[in-house]
Amino acid sequence: MAEATRDPVTGRETTGHEWNGIEELDTPIPRVVLFFLAATTLFAIGYWLLMPAWPLGWTYTKGLLGNDQREIVTRQVQDAAAERASWTSRIAKASFAEIAADPALMRHVRDTGRTLFADNCAVCHGTEGKGGPGFPNLAAGSWLWGGTPEAIAETIRVGINSTAKDTRTAQMMAFGRDGVLQREQVLAVVSYVRSLSGQKLTETEQARVPAGKEVFAANCAACHGPEGKGMHDLGAPDLTDAHWIYGGDEQSVLNSVHGGRQGHMPSWEGRLSPTDIKLLALYVGTLSGDRK
Ligand code: HEC
Ligand code: HEC
Repeated sequence: MAEATRDPVTGRETTGHEWNGIEELDTPIPRVVLFFLAATTLFAIGYWLLMPAWPLGWTYTKGLLGNDQREIVTRQVQDAAAERASWTSRIAKASFAEIAADPALMRHVRDTGRTLFADNCAVCHGTEGKGGPGFPNLAAGSWLWGGTPEAIAETIRVGINSTAKDTRTAQMMAFGRDGVLQREQVLAVVSYVRSLSGQKLTETEQARVPAGKEVFAANCAACHGPEGKGMHDLGAPDLTDAHWIYGGDEQSVLNSVHGGRQGHMPSWEGRLSPTDIKLLALYVGTLSGDRK
């Protein structure tokens, strides 16, 4: 055992250990460290007494406060369900106009609608409902079947060309493939259709427009309307605006007229509750309103 000596510089005792002439001072642990050690130990003992702490085989020490995370979560879930039930039942009962006039309910429509839309509709219509090739833009305010909440709810309920008994049916025939129109007539009507939305036409296209106008009046106006503005009863799109399901360039319009188009929108009755369909119809309605 080495002998403790006093260090001449600091005046402290040394531990007596010595390595190559270097000796170790016997400095005590600082008071503040001891204080925190005592404080945290006391806190731990207090916490063990008050809160659930020690496992005891099948059970555990419950703590004097009776705090139980499981109970707290159950209570929170019940509260949330009760809160949701209070406004979902109001949405179920109220008319579309009443809900639209109630800012508090419309806040729920926006919040819940966004989730429902993301879960069920966004795969086809995009997260913001802006659609894509083959899938209509629901935020454009240009509707196939009408943009009232009633019409939108009906579209969601029965679908379009779906397997539901009362599905909406959209049939754009294959005028070219089925030989209803000759190739020249198809090309002419394509140019005319493109002129309706004010697109820039080549000279060749321009020259076809008058003939195309006649083909349109005889073959297309019955569904798309005499001015090409579409018809909600038939799901026939407005051909005069800038919104296209399949594209407004020459090749896309040619494909539409040559091969026909039958879009498929699934029916949601039975998969979504009537309240959810109602909520989604209102939510889809806000998509075009929110457009900046
Ligand atoms: C599998 C793809 C798909 C899914 C999923 C889908 N849709 Fe559609 N939806 C379509 C297609 C395609 C059309 C256009 C049909 C046509 O061209 O005739 C359409 C049309 C619509 C229309 C009619 C638009 C108009 O202009 O009248 C509404 C409204 C609509 N969808 C809402 C929804 C909602 C709400 C959901 C979610 C519950 C949904 N869709 C899910 C494919 C889908
Ligand atoms: C029986 C009714 C009907 C007739 C007749 C009809 N269409 Fe259509 N057309 C539709 C419907 C319905 C759609 C939408 C199809 C879909 O998306 O499901 C459509 C879609 C289109 C589109 C695609 C629009 C887009 O947004 O991409 C074009 C272009 C078009 N029609 C042009 C014509 C032309 C040109 C004629 C005449 C030669 C014609 N249609 C005759 C019902 C009709």
